Amino acid sequence: MSDPPGEAPLETPETPEPLAARAGGPHATGERAAPFTRLADVYDAIMSDVPYDDWIDFLLREATARGFRGGPTLDLACGTGGATRPMRDRGFEVDGVDGSEAMLAVARAKLPEVRFRRGDLRTFRTGRRYALIFSVFDSLNNMLDPADFVRAVRRARAHLLPGGLFVFDANTRRGLAELWEQGVAEGATPEVRYRWVHRYDPARELATVEATCHDRHGRFTEVHHERPYDPEVLRRLLRRAGFEAVDVIVFPDGEDATEEEPRVWTFARG
Ligand SMILES: C[S@@+](CC[C@H](N)C(=O)[O-])C[C@H]1O[C@@H](n2cnc3c(N)ncnc32)[C@H](O)[C@@H]1O
Repeated sequence: MSDPPGEAPLETPETPEPLAARAGGPHATGERAAPFTRLADVYDAIMSDVPYDDWIDFLLREATARGFRGGPTLDLACGTGGATRPMRDRGFEVDGVDGSEAMLAVARAKLPEVRFRRGDLRTFRTGRRYALIFSVFDSLNNMLDPADFVRAVRRARAHLLPGGLFVFDANTRRGLAELWEQGVAEGATPEVRYRWVHRYDPARELATVEATCHDRHGRFTEVHHERPYDPEVLRRLLRRAGFEAVDVIVFPDGEDATEEEPRVWTFARG
């Protein structure tokens, strides 16, 4: 199968005003970059405490309980390969798809043996099917329109082997409303100083993060948007996309998720 038409730009609706500037942040100026472009170089440094290994162990445990017995896997919206690596380390064959060439370049440098390709969540084609497709760290929340969300999960379903599983996490309304205390996350590593300002508009169900970073190349700001997906909405949209069994649970216990949970994990059988 030929390469997918995955060249469409990522979601970039206009933001009405610069949040970091409004918040009086120290990094309020600098280049405005498209989502997941300049950030790619410093993404791993900023995300160094993300528990990818624990997430993959949880994901494999819960997938095994739902019939997963091995086979090829796909990391969807794999970014820099944070979750691809632990899946590979546990002995699974894994491919990766992401919409950002910059994120993929970092992933390829870290995991040269993995087949990474560029593709949009809503249109991707890899030319093969998988026993397990996984997508972690809010990537499906980038689908700002539920119709796009359904397109994306339909593409995932079309890539599943019979009985295969699609697993992903998502921020809920509660999660996006309360993302960080005071709405600001800031820090410094040897590679980057960053200040990320967050706000949530419940009427539009739209979260906005203005991520300002200062790295060795200078200062830049990327504006990212997410739409929340609550457990009931996830079940409805997954069924609309043709999935039969849909469980929405919580890390790490695997209990059924309620609307009160900030982040939920969906296990859907195609
Ligand atoms: C928060 S990052 C998560 C990356 C990776 N899964 C991880 O856990 O680190 C979200 C990823 O989704 C990708 N993404 C956002 N919108 C996309 C789209 N429409 N199609 C494909 N990838 C997309 C971005 O390029 C980015 O790599």
